[in-house]
Amino acid sequence: MIFGAILAGGVGSRMNIESMPKQYLPLAGKPVFLHTLEKFLLCDEFDAVYIGTHPNWVDFTRDAVMPYVGSAIDIHVVKGGSDRNGTIMSIIDAIEDDYGPSPDHIIVTHDSVRPFVKLSTIKGNIEAARQYGACDTVIPATDTIVTSQSGDQIDEIPPRSAMYQGQTPQSFNIDQLKGLYASLTDEERASLTDACKVLVLKGVPVRLVPGDVTNIKLTTIMDYKVAQAMIESGVDA
Ligand code: CTP
Repeated sequence: MIFGAILAGGVGSRMNIESMPKQYLPLAGKPVFLHTLEKFLLCDEFDAVYIGTHPNWVDFTRDAVMPYVGSAIDIHVVKGGSDRNGTIMSIIDAIEDDYGPSPDHIIVTHDSVRPFVKLSTIKGNIEAARQYGACDTVIPATDTIVTSQSGDQIDEIPPRSAMYQGQTPQSFNIDQLKGLYASLTDEERASLTDACKVLVLKGVPVRLVPGDVTNIKLTTIMDYKVAQAMIESGVDA
């Protein structure tokens, strides 16, 4: 079976808005994460879509998704974890409780705060996860990337042609992701910034799927303003 996992368990500290985490902020009349949910519901390959939401916002999220319940795709709201991968693991636990485990289950994980994701990107993820077991959505880096351990001086300037910016979705065979995550040491877990790194740390290949420049992540207030301007100029969210 194919499952969507919309990650909405964060606090959005870099957005600096006290009243609510960024995924619940209004965008063109509805919370950001509902735009993202709508994108997932366009994809008829999903059997169910899970939203891993912040523990204080479970009731709000359940109420907000009510108008979408009863569509062809089941919608479930679960409590997110203390970090991003914890939210993914909470969703996987819920999937296995609700539908039972299977070696063929696929999960398409996506930041709730990327409401401009295209249907073609979601479908590209499903195809790549089916074929290769794991994939990441990326776009070629446009800026030159500079590495520096000290933060004071350059260590390296890797060739830009080999540099990509990671977006989401990131999609996985559930059994493989779960098994590898369970095998990580505490130190390895602390080094994770995303779910693909679980596989990369263990030397397991992750396929690249082309993303899109419009698939922005709302991280700072500037991104929120850009998202509002994108909608005003007709970009589909
Ligand atoms: N996320 C999640 N569960 C967590 C932490 C993050 O589901 N415990 C989700 C966020 O809700 C967001 C996505 O992961 O949709 C991307 O993470 P990021 O932009 O870093 O979100 P936050 O952790 O909320 O932001 P910040 O780092 O600014 O606090």
